[in-house]
Amino acid sequence: MPFHFSDRWQDSDPTPNALTEAIAARKKSGQPIFDLTASNPTQCGIVYPDWTSLLNQSSVQTYDPHPQGNLKAREAIAQYYAERSERVAPYDLFLTAGTSEGYAHLFKLLCDPGDEVLVSSPSYPLLETLASLEGIQIRSYFDLKSLKANLTERTRAIFLVQPNNPTGHVLSKNDADYLVHIAEEKGLALVVDEVFADFLYNSNILPLLHSKKSLVFTLNGLSKLLGLPQLKLAWIHVDGETSLKARAKKHLEWICDAYLSVSTASQAACPELLERRLDFQIPIQERLETNLSTLREVAKANPQIEPLWPQGGWCIPVRCKGVEDDEAFALELLEKHGVLVHPGYFFDFEEEDVVVLSLLIEPTVFREGLARLLPFGK
Ligand SMILES: Cc1ncc(COP(=O)(O)O)c(C=O)c1O
Repeated sequence: MPFHFSDRWQDSDPTPNALTEAIAARKKSGQPIFDLTASNPTQCGIVYPDWTSLLNQSSVQTYDPHPQGNLKAREAIAQYYAERSERVAPYDLFLTAGTSEGYAHLFKLLCDPGDEVLVSSPSYPLLETLASLEGIQIRSYFDLKSLKANLTERTRAIFLVQPNNPTGHVLSKNDADYLVHIAEEKGLALVVDEVFADFLYNSNILPLLHSKKSLVFTLNGLSKLLGLPQLKLAWIHVDGETSLKARAKKHLEWICDAYLSVSTASQAACPELLERRLDFQIPIQERLETNLSTLREVAKANPQIEPLWPQGGWCIPVRCKGVEDDEAFALELLEKHGVLVHPGYFFDFEEEDVVVLSLLIEPTVFREGLARLLPFGK
């Protein structure tokens, strides 16, 4: 009998693409790369306050797991929401080891293999991988008009990232109400990833979505909120119609109890970290603002680039007028000018002239990378 791997791997192609190969070749040759894609906040020269002693508390000597996560950590998260004027109860929160695990739990809760979820496009590329690992299909919707057209009898949930990665888009109140209305009308859950909620440019507060007839799951965590992805601490907030919510929580408790994956040390550190969150957020916000203002200045002097200004988040799509193939363009930028950008197709942009830049880049590298990118239109 031939050896059988799970059908999950059927469509996966492990061959590196041309850009990945070009990066490896450039690194091997020792030539510098002006990397405008770097998005790991702990490796972009951002100065963090000293926090590591918080992991070294006597309480971590005892293992006392709770399926939903440590109560003090959940109370601190509820307090964080209270400061955003949101009423969140600690017993409606489930801690997970990162948002990715939260997504995986929700796929298990809501879908059977072969089911579908609707995801706004362009969006966070990892979602497709996370879904396919659970045997779930993703169907993209490009705007709320195309949402209904993509519903099938196997659709179980609508996923939304806001502020979106990479567009930084945030739904208007009307659009958010409409989305909740569709979910309720079609008996679907809504899953809202708001990991960039504290990094908004035009407003101060992102309201949570709520539903009285269906279920809304909100995902957030310390990876972006504090720029501390290494803590692997995120959460799912459950909101919705009373009896559905009770059943969802019972099932989620079962799923979380099977893994108990969040470390005791991260949970112990969570309350004080959240209390001191501005110490973490201000240096990140300053970095985002510095790079946005560089881009404003550069775009003003170089009309061949058109930044698609985001409403929030850590990156920005930039239209490079006249470019006809984003993939070939990204390859050329790297090979000829040593500058690395994400081609838009990576995030499912339909346009061929869009590249995506991270706003976390060290400011001198960001400026130099832009200067190297610019000659293309001239
Ligand atoms: C939209 C979005 N959600 C979730 C995550 C990952 O978060 P976590 O580290 O909590 O798994 C990312 C990381 O880039 C992201 O962009």
